Amino acid sequence: MPWKRRPNARTTLERARNIADLRGLARRRVPGLAFEYVEGGAEDESALRGNRAALERLQLVPQTLIDTSRRQLRTAILGAPAEAPLVIAPTGLNNMLHPQGDLVLARCAARRGIPFTLSTLSTTRLEEIATGAGGRLWMQLYVFKDRAIARDIMQRAAAAGYEALVFTTDANVFGSREWDQRNFSAPGRPTPRAALDTLRHPRWLYDMLVRHGIPRFRNVEAFLPPGKASAVGGSTVLPGLFEASITWDDIAWIRQFWRGKLLLKGVLTAGDAERARALGCDGIVLSNHGGRQLDYCVAGIDALPEIAATVGRRMSLIVDGGFRRGSDVIKALALGAEAVMLGRATLYGLAAGGEPGVARALEMLCTETDRVLGMLGCNAVSELGAQHVHRA
Ligand SMILES: Cc1cc2nc3c(=O)[nH]c(=O)nc-3n(C[C@H](O)[C@H](O)[C@H](O)COP(=O)(O)O)c2cc1C
Repeated sequence: MPWKRRPNARTTLERARNIADLRGLARRRVPGLAFEYVEGGAEDESALRGNRAALERLQLVPQTLIDTSRRQLRTAILGAPAEAPLVIAPTGLNNMLHPQGDLVLARCAARRGIPFTLSTLSTTRLEEIATGAGGRLWMQLYVFKDRAIARDIMQRAAAAGYEALVFTTDANVFGSREWDQRNFSAPGRPTPRAALDTLRHPRWLYDMLVRHGIPRFRNVEAFLPPGKASAVGGSTVLPGLFEASITWDDIAWIRQFWRGKLLLKGVLTAGDAERARALGCDGIVLSNHGGRQLDYCVAGIDALPEIAATVGRRMSLIVDGGFRRGSDVIKALALGAEAVMLGRATLYGLAAGGEPGVARALEMLCTETDRVLGMLGCNAVSELGAQHVHRA
């Protein structure tokens, strides 16, 4: 896969041409255990590879000799204006990649005019993001066994002015990322090899251990046992928090505490999309959690055409999984998505270079999306349609 190619060893942030270059830089900047945490997929990593394969199977079909000099990426996401059809996805433990990871991602999203989603398992309190970043903020929700955690998150997010709640439905059971586990001899205890590799990244180590301390699960720390709120201690208790008994009935329960916009993340069939709509959800994220939960899971982009045909424009359709190029974004929009969620693409930027790194990742994706839009003969994302995509 082209994005897997190793970048030139001299690549710097300024010389990085694409997300693959940022990934290469990230790989050098952070220790293997942090990089693997981001990179890994579940079990055989078939779903992880499948996300890219599904996008690469799609070819673009241009219409020619059209004046595209007036083109722009501005659009509407979840009924409100956005400067580009992009949303930053919720990812836990961002401060392991950069001491202010959540804040940096949120600020870059605000500056770009796109929504940012904060994870329940973020390493920054949701209130701090609201005051420190602004912009369009969405809050991701895990409903854990202890319902008080979800209630607390929803009430605080509402009080802090978050626009939307993104209820993740594909983590009723915790996924098994074996590459991630290989770096630890026991949960929270790095193997000697991983520890040695960490020592080879003194700047990262200084930031994490000396300047800022080991990142903590700030949003939920009040509910974790003493000593278990840090990235190290938390890994021993978090998998046990996930709740296998979440069901559709929980939408009504959530609605008791959340009046704002509601999205379900992890919907991959037309039947489930229809059910979400009937229950009053404002949108869905077609996602297999970046290949980190159910291995061999269908890719969001492959589920999109049927879901779009069923629920059409009656709810917001957002898709994620493997998006690394503007051409990927265009394919999703042409097949009926309103926007694309970015997971690893912006995390690579974060690990590669903090705020300038994330800004660079977003710049690359917007420039590429704009260029492809023009080459297809369109001036606006609303002009894209199924006629622009051909399945190889
Ligand atoms: C490091 C990492 C942490 C993640 N943490 C969460 C999370 O806390 N909540 C959630 O709903 N999804 C989480 N996800 C999934 C992302 O929201 C998103 O679905 C996925 O990253 C999209 O695939 P991509 O990384 O290929 O873009 C995480 C993904 C990554 C890579």
